[in-house]
Amino acid sequence: MVVLRILRYNPAKDERPTFRNYEIGPTAGMTILDALIHIKENMDPSLTFRRSCRSAICGSCALTANGKNLLACNTQLSALKKKRIVLEPLPGFQILRDLAVDWEPFFDKYRAIKPYLITKSAPPAKERIQSPDIRKRYDDAAKCIMCSACTSSCPVMWTDDSYLGPAALTKVWRFVADDRDEATEERLSMVSNEKGVWRCHTIFRCSESCPKDIDTAGCLEFLRKKVVWYSLRGRV
Ligand code: FES
Repeated sequence: MVVLRILRYNPAKDERPTFRNYEIGPTAGMTILDALIHIKENMDPSLTFRRSCRSAICGSCALTANGKNLLACNTQLSALKKKRIVLEPLPGFQILRDLAVDWEPFFDKYRAIKPYLITKSAPPAKERIQSPDIRKRYDDAAKCIMCSACTSSCPVMWTDDSYLGPAALTKVWRFVADDRDEATEERLSMVSNEKGVWRCHTIFRCSESCPKDIDTAGCLEFLRKKVVWYSLRGRV
């Protein structure tokens, strides 16, 4: 048997968060998300959590298990190697209810960095061609599913709401590294300040917590180098 110790909190009713234990007999290959669904369907329908794809694509099931940020849908209970698993909402965000947090501030920052290709030149007759080598430059950053595990694990984010955070900055790198994008100077100017790349303390928790194994700290390092290169030439 495994005990799932889950943080429960309904801000409309409860004075403070509390933990509730649920004992289950895990089946082979059972993921944390399977266990949560089992509890909701058979033991406690009031348990609140997010999920959608169940395939590690949408990012909505991110939570903290035994102190580590991860995706509930691609983490098997057996992988945690514990008989008692503590599940909490992602740190650094306001709790809406139980394991569901308010992601609006996170997506506000995402929208602020203009997460789309910006072109200024006239469109070509067919398509904007890109070489495989250039595509490789941002392969890692392009894998981001916006689950916020990195941003939520960043101690700088916990103390400074204005910091863009690793997920948004990794997305900036994704477009700066893309030679079809024609807003490099605008993007670098946007992040060359205390809310952007200079606020990162290279603590590396972002890279450690990414469920897609993106080296977010490395992406920020590339971005900082670009900012310095353009700054030295008076272009940002
Ligand atoms: S449910 Fe979509 S990533 Fe887990």
